[in-house]
Amino acid sequence: MNILLLGSGGREHALAWKLKQSPEIGRLYIAPGNAGTAEVGTNIPIQATDFEALKAFALEQSVDCVLVGPEDPLVQGIYDFFRNDSQLRHIPVIGPSQQGAQLEGSKDFAKAFMLRHGIPTARYFSVTKENLSEGIAFMQTMQAPYVLKADGLAAGKGVLIITDWDEALRELNAMLNGGFGKAGETVVIEEFLSGIECSVFVLTDGVHYKILPEAKDYKRIGEGDTGLNTGGMGAVSPVPFANKIFMEKVEQRIVIPTIEGLQKEGIDYKGFLFLGLINVKGEPMVIEYNCRMGDPETEVVMMRLQSDLVDLLKGVANGNLHEKEMQFDPRKAVTIMLVSGGYPGNYVKGYPVTGLDQTRGSILFHAGTTEENGNIITNGGRVMAVSSYGKTKEEALQQSFTNAEIIRFEGKYYRKDIGLDL
Ligand code: AMP
Ligand code: GLY
Repeated sequence: MNILLLGSGGREHALAWKLKQSPEIGRLYIAPGNAGTAEVGTNIPIQATDFEALKAFALEQSVDCVLVGPEDPLVQGIYDFFRNDSQLRHIPVIGPSQQGAQLEGSKDFAKAFMLRHGIPTARYFSVTKENLSEGIAFMQTMQAPYVLKADGLAAGKGVLIITDWDEALRELNAMLNGGFGKAGETVVIEEFLSGIECSVFVLTDGVHYKILPEAKDYKRIGEGDTGLNTGGMGAVSPVPFANKIFMEKVEQRIVIPTIEGLQKEGIDYKGFLFLGLINVKGEPMVIEYNCRMGDPETEVVMMRLQSDLVDLLKGVANGNLHEKEMQFDPRKAVTIMLVSGGYPGNYVKGYPVTGLDQTRGSILFHAGTTEENGNIITNGGRVMAVSSYGKTKEEALQQSFTNAEIIRFEGKYYRKDIGLDL
């Protein structure tokens, strides 16, 4: 089976690494990919949102299946683009329809969906310039801190958590007046939930589903969860508090009502679903949905998935996912993200990355890297996900931290406290 994988981060290198292990894989293409994906497949210089160029490529190279890594192509409707084109219809796209991707693309849509289907989440009110006074009245019924979310995609920067009432009012006005562009024309005001977060991943063919290993990600740039939000600075799997009882609640109260809700509403959803959860005194509540896998969670989830990913994707495409087996590696998996100095603010690209061949015992998933004249150079904020297995989490972390020191590039930074809070 020839697979075209869309995206260019650590998530895509991990997916490519896993796909490549399948006896069923034919040619593996990654658009646009990075220096790591180039080692397991063929990178093609097409952006993941350039649908016409992807169409031409898919037809020319007899692509049998498209796996979508990031949210942008999904929210822009790549599934529907293939579905509605007579030449492309036979090529399954693993990822939801544009409507299904609204679970991530619109926080207002996601909240209303959860309300309709009785899925546990924070109380909320959606506000625009037109109903601002009602929004403020709702906010007055909340206790600080106040949670304000831009409705649309904002690359992880659209959520503000503010303790001071006056500041919250100012920020709400700023958002509604274009502070986040179109994404902030509607703002979801939410009750603040207190607890520890974890990510749960579901693969679905639209009817049946499989729950993948859960993971915890570390979003803030600074140790002790301080400073600005990033795409993710590291991840661990499994998550100790996501025990059998907790996961049973997640399945019954969240996974099943979500899949059934999508079906009832006639929304096509064949792909990965990411549940951003918070554990409120043992009760799982949904913080957010994403219509794709997480990054860097994918790195640890793919390490722990023992079953054949190509076979699972076939199950999604053919609607017989329930006949497939899902097996997990009992070992712990961790990943530590090496990032460019200055990230998530401004940073410089183009520094040589050295020491990769001196590392031992870790899997190096490339994120923001590219190749130039045979050298690996930095090409993004998140550069490399240093990933390890261990009998214990501590053993895995030790391995990754050792190798994180061996890899060198100008301005390298990483958090030394990944996994230590669990
Ligand atoms: P989101 O983009 O919706 O995942 O939000 C980003 C981060 O903001 C989450 O990972 C949480 O840490 C935090 N957050 C979002 N919503 C809430 C909430 N209702 N209560 C507490 N923290 C929240
Ligand atoms: N690591 C969080 C995300 O992928 O959204």
